[in-house]
This record gives sequence, C-alpha cells and structure tokens, in this order.
Amino acid sequence: MAPRVLVTGSAGQIGAELVPHLRSLYGKDNVVAAIHTSPGGPSLRDGPLLTLDTGNQAAVVAALKEYKVDTVYHLAALLSATGEKNPQLAWTVNMDGLRNVLEASRTNGVSQVFWPSSIGAFGPDAPRANAPQNAPLTPTTMYGVTKVAGELLCNYYHAKYGLDVRCLRYPGLISSVTPPGGGTTDYAVEIFYGAIRTGSYTCFLREDTVLPMMYMPDALKATVQVMEAPASKVPRHLGYNLAAFSFSAGMLASELAKLVPGFRVTYAPDSRQKIADSWPQSIDDTEARRDWGWEPDYDLPGMVADMLAKLTTRLRPEGKTV
Ligand code: SER
Repeated sequence: MAPRVLVTGSAGQIGAELVPHLRSLYGKDNVVAAIHTSPGGPSLRDGPLLTLDTGNQAAVVAALKEYKVDTVYHLAALLSATGEKNPQLAWTVNMDGLRNVLEASRTNGVSQVFWPSSIGAFGPDAPRANAPQNAPLTPTTMYGVTKVAGELLCNYYHAKYGLDVRCLRYPGLISSVTPPGGGTTDYAVEIFYGAIRTGSYTCFLREDTVLPMMYMPDALKATVQVMEAPASKVPRHLGYNLAAFSFSAGMLASELAKLVPGFRVTYAPDSRQKIADSWPQSIDDTEARRDWGWEPDYDLPGMVADMLAKLTTRLRPEGKTV
C-alpha cells in the first residue's frame, strides 16, 4: 500500500522536486505538500496543498490527522548563510520545527520520518578529505549546530520511542528546477544562470574552494532509497554521510566553459567563504553504500551537461532569447 505522505518545506530547494517525485511514485493524492511563507510553483498544485507553520505543534498534529499521514519528510529549514545572518531565527525554525514534527509524529501514529542533515554538520575538527562517518562534529555555523542537535534529536526519538527516523547528510545540492535560497553552495547553481543569461558570473567563493556536491536527481534517489529500505538495512538514525562528487569553483567554471564558449568567471569571496572553509572537501559515504546500497548516477561532467540542457530549455523557450 502506498504511504500517506506529508512534506514540509515543499516550496524549498528539495521539496519543490521531491513532491512531484513522490507523487509520481505514490499517487498525487497520497502526497500532501505543506508550504509556509513561499507559495511554491505550479507543480505543487496538482495534489493536496496546505499552509503549515511547523513552529506550531497543534497545527502539525491537525495536518497529520486531517490527511491520515503515516510518513513525514520534514524539510522546512533555513540554510547556512541565511542562518548566519539571523542565528536566533535559524535555531527557532530548524530546531522547534523538528521537535514539533517528531513529537507530533510519535503521538499520532506516524511510522516514518525523514529529516535532512548536511555537510554543514561538520566543522574544523573533521578531516577535510574523505570526512568519515564518525568524524567529530564541531560546526561553526548556527545551521551546523542545528544539524548536529537535530541528528541527536532524531536518534533520541528512535532510541526512546522507536520512531523510525531516517536522516541523510546531503552535500551541496544542484537543481535545475528551484534555485536554492541562502546557502553557501548556492554558487554552483547560480553559475548556470550566469552562463546562460550573460555568459559571465561573479562567484562569491574563491576559485580553489572545493566542496562536496550532488545533482538533485541523485539526492531524490538517495532519499527514496533510504526511506524504502527495510529497517534492518538502516541501523543508523544519526545522519548517513552521502557523497557524489567534489569540485572547486574553478573546476565547475572550466567544465561549463567547455559547453559555453567564452564563459567568464570572476571571483569575489564574501562572508560565505568562511563557512565553506569550515566544511570538508569530500565525504566518505562507505556506510550508506554498505547498509542500503547507495550509489550515485551523476559525475561532474554528466551533471553539467544535463543541468545546462534543462536550464537552457527552461530559460530560453523556443524562439526567444533571454
Ligand atoms: N547547501 C547547504 C548550504 O549551503 C549545505 O547543506 O547551506
């Protein structure tokens, strides 16, 4: 039987693609998209859609009951750069929301919860190359603090109440559908808009900044895979390390220049450089591969070619120039 799903943060970078993906798998009526401040795109409107503030536990309970939800993907959160501008708000949105969703879930018969952690959970004490699953987690951003605390809370709800919470540490995500908002890895999406629209881009990170990244189709695949795996294959309820590929801003620019002749990138690092420098350059995801068979489909050239083709079609409808 198909799960009855609620996705919070549906208008966000992951939600905007996860909702249509889950609807294609489980049926439109079985996937409820919850939005808050942003209205989201038309693709959210071909199934149940509601406005929900996850800061309000009673409202979360009401939504779970009304739609007879048994599976929650709790994606509503602030990203790293926005979080550094307003750390108090980042704590409130990221932590109160998670606690409300976990508590509402365990008291209302929800059987599974998904929650996204991030490379932001790591800090300067983790090895920069191939950060292992059990690296020390000492993040220096409020976003990272909420990711570490959130992982611990997910693990607590599993240990104390038996709630089946599953959690992935996503790398920076690159999507052709929804631009990210307020992240440190946003440059890797913005650069495509620059290439298509003006043939140039000013990057807010240094050219040699290497970060772990992933194309959104792989992120969707990993998310569904970890949620559908039998419980015996997912023993970890803290976040699983997850990797696809790593590149520097300069490597991405060169790869793009192969397909967009004359593409020019200049570098003007801002406050986000400090955040990027506190994160690992690559991630060891051996456990995810071993436990539930994780394997990405896209490498850097594959992602760049597909992303450029999709975004070009979207930004330049036939016969028009942007
Ligand atoms: N993409 C996120 C950010 O940059 C990292 O998880 O904040």
